This record gives sequence, C-alpha cells and structure tokens, in this order.
Amino acid sequence: MADVRPSLVEGLVASGLAAREARWIVEEFAVGGDPDSAAAVRAAARRRLDGEPLQYVLGHWPFRGLDLDVDPRVLIPRPETEELVDHALAELARLDEASPVVLDLGCGSGAIGLSIAHELAARGVRARVIGVDASEGALTVARANARKHGLADVSFVLSDWFDGLDPSLHGRVHLVAANPPYVGADELAGADPVLAHEPRGALVAPDHDGVAGFADVARIVAAAPAWLAPGGALVLEHGDRQGPAALAAARAAGLEAFDRRDLAGRDRVLVGRRP
Ligand SMILES: C[S@@+](CC[C@H](N)C(=O)[O-])C[C@H]1O[C@@H](n2cnc3c(N)ncnc32)[C@H](O)[C@@H]1O
Repeated sequence: MADVRPSLVEGLVASGLAAREARWIVEEFAVGGDPDSAAAVRAAARRRLDGEPLQYVLGHWPFRGLDLDVDPRVLIPRPETEELVDHALAELARLDEASPVVLDLGCGSGAIGLSIAHELAARGVRARVIGVDASEGALTVARANARKHGLADVSFVLSDWFDGLDPSLHGRVHLVAANPPYVGADELAGADPVLAHEPRGALVAPDHDGVAGFADVARIVAAAPAWLAPGGALVLEHGDRQGPAALAAARAAGLEAFDRRDLAGRDRVLVGRRP
C-alpha cells in the first residue's frame, strides 16, 4: 500500500500550513501512512488553520524531559517556565533534603511539579510533590500526565491556592513553586493570539495595589512563609513588569528575596527564602 504521508504534507502546505507544522500534523495523525487517516489529518489541519494552537491540535507537547498531554483545559507550558524549574531544582539542591516536600501551585498540566518529581527521581531523590489547582479540568489533565510518566508519588488537590491544603503541612514545605495567572485584564487585548485559546482562569488576575494582574502573585507571596520550612523557598514566575512589586511583597512577608533573570535578561522569577 502506498504511503500517503508525502502527498498529505504537500496538500497541507498548499492549503496554507507551514511545512514544519504540516509534517508534525501528518506524523501525528497518519501513523504508518495509512490512507484511512487522511480525514483525521485534514480535520486537524483545519483546526490549526482556524487559529487553534498547534499544541492543542497535536494534544501533547514537550516540557523539559516530559511529553505532556495538553488540551484547552490547561495552559500550554512555556519555555520560560522550564527556567523556573531550574531555579526550583537549585533551591532543592541547596536544601539537600532526602525527601523534600514540594507544592506546585496552579499546576495546570503538571509541568512544573511533574518535572521536579521526574528529575529528582533520576538523581535518587524521592520527593513528595503536591499539585494544586482551582480547576478540576486542569487536575484531570495533570493526573493523566502523572500516570503517563509513572510518577505515582505525585498527588493532586483541588484548592484555592493554599486554602484547601492539609494544615499539617504548615512550616513543612521545602519548596513552593508557582506560575500563577499574572496578566491584567486590560493587557489581554493585543497580546499573543494563542492566549485567546487558553483558559482565562490560567492567565488573568485582578490588579492589586496599582499593579496590573498582580492579585494572585500578592496572595501567594503573602501566604507562603507560613507553609515553608525554615530555609525553604518560594520560586514564583511573574510578569515582566511585576519584578519590583514581587520583590517588595516577598520582603514585606519576611522572605529573603532575589530576582532571577530569564535568557532575555528580564526578571521573571522571584526566589524568596524563609530565613
Ligand atoms: C499560568 S497557569 C500555570 C500552569 C502550569 N503550572 C504551567 O506552568 O504551565 C496558572 C494555573 O493556576 C490555576 N489557578 C488559577 N487561580 C487559582 C487559584 N485561586 N487557586 C489555585 N489554582 C489557580 C489555573 O487553573 C492554571 O492552571
């Protein structure tokens, strides 16, 4: 039987898809070059041509070493969040705990918490990772990703930030990692069109103290010290105009706080250590 993949790619490019995306869609939906797969390929290409992000069309996307399932219930994991995981792992290395307790606040697809669990396990460290989200849909995706990668020690909690967590965790968490919503409602218009397809609750936060989109960052920073173990760290991604406010909030909450710059030199990650 003839392999239909080359002609499918040609057809998708002719209909307006970039060659690289056309190849990815064909590889995903025409496994083995089966002629019966042409309808699935065309349906996926139509979604992409209608503006849906490629990651949702494919249904999965790489994040550090993990291939994560993604769909419109979760934010598409971003490269800058991969850098947040580096900072989180550096904080855990500094603490050198045999069985660290880690919270991933606003876990979405599970990108941060699952990467930490996976990469620590590869170094022989068995972390207790708890993924937290206010969206049941996001938690369903995150749980499926944990199963997909055999990360049985990761648990998930439906909670409004720290509010629904087991109080016995007070003062016992070694790392709080968070990538909360931090886009102001007024900033959404004119932003990357991909954002229009992602859950609004994953992106947009109310303004706080005159800082656009800062309310969730402010809540997490203020509450984190009570949950951190001595020496434990909050590692939090924020908007590129929120750095000074995030630092000030962390210092006001009693944390030793630092900026961490991304590869483009913008301060996008706050590290706050409990003394
Ligand atoms: C920017 S996304 C981050 C997703 C994932 N951690 C990542 O980095 O790709 C923010 C996440 O926070 C969740 N969230 C929003 N408000 C929340 C709240 N009050 N409590 C817990 N989670 C919340 C959203 O549902 C969403 O999954």
